Amino acid sequence: MTMDDAPSILRTVGLEKSYDLGRIKVRAVCGIDLAIKKGEFVSIMGPSGCGKSTLLYLIGGMTNPTRGSVFVGDTDITHLSDSERTALRRERIGFVFQRFNLFPTLSALGNVRLAQEIQGWKDRKEAGEGARELLGWVGLADKDSRRPYELSIGEQQRVAIARALVGMPEILLADEPTGNLDTDNSLQIMRVFESLNEKHSQTILMITHNPEIAARADRTIHMRDGRIVDVEGKS
Ligand SMILES: Nc1ncnc2c1ncn2[C@@H]1O[C@H](COP(=O)(O)OP(=O)(O)OP(=O)(O)O)[C@@H](O)[C@H]1O
Ligand SMILES: [Mg+2]
Repeated sequence: MTMDDAPSILRTVGLEKSYDLGRIKVRAVCGIDLAIKKGEFVSIMGPSGCGKSTLLYLIGGMTNPTRGSVFVGDTDITHLSDSERTALRRERIGFVFQRFNLFPTLSALGNVRLAQEIQGWKDRKEAGEGARELLGWVGLADKDSRRPYELSIGEQQRVAIARALVGMPEILLADEPTGNLDTDNSLQIMRVFESLNEKHSQTILMITHNPEIAARADRTIHMRDGRIVDVEGKS
């Protein structure tokens, strides 16, 4: 099967999100129609405040749209109960947050292990090995016992990436995963993403401000004022 006939693994239809702040109404996402195929690697670019993170939260089922739908495969996640949506996210989606959201009292390894526990991993030996392997992929094998405050921002970001990869989710949503990394480290993360994408057909949706990083994806979506204004690349 070529990429062209692959079914959409993610689809948004007329997606809108507004925040009502009393007198002010912020229209963060204003009518986004987007289809992403299984195994596609898509980057999202756009100025600060244009709605990139909001779009990713909507797609990941972290927040509910004001209007419109998000489909993961054939499932409209906006029609699921909170617990069904949480289960779907746990089983199918990995998320790298712009602000990492690491647990400050847990080591790098502990943060990854916690994600495994939430997913119901029982075998401690297997989990420990898996967590160390993930930390190795992001270049943190020698720092797995450090807590977030004992790591640089870029290293914390890499812990957040390792955590998102627990269970090898078929969809990875990453909010500026290389935002705090220098060129060498950014490229290292991109190679991890590219190998997940190529070897495991993982579908990746990644926000970035870096045009060189963005250009490594199959497709780049440009946003402005809550809308898609341009799409570059294949399909
Ligand atoms: N919880 C919220 N309540 C009110 N307004 C919000 C909320 N979250 C986001 N916004 C607003 O929605 C708009 C889009 O925010 P969003 O975080 O999606 O932007 P972004 O493109 O990710 O920006 P950046 O590149 O700075 O991360 C902004 O105007 C922001 O202030
Ligand atoms: Mg953002």
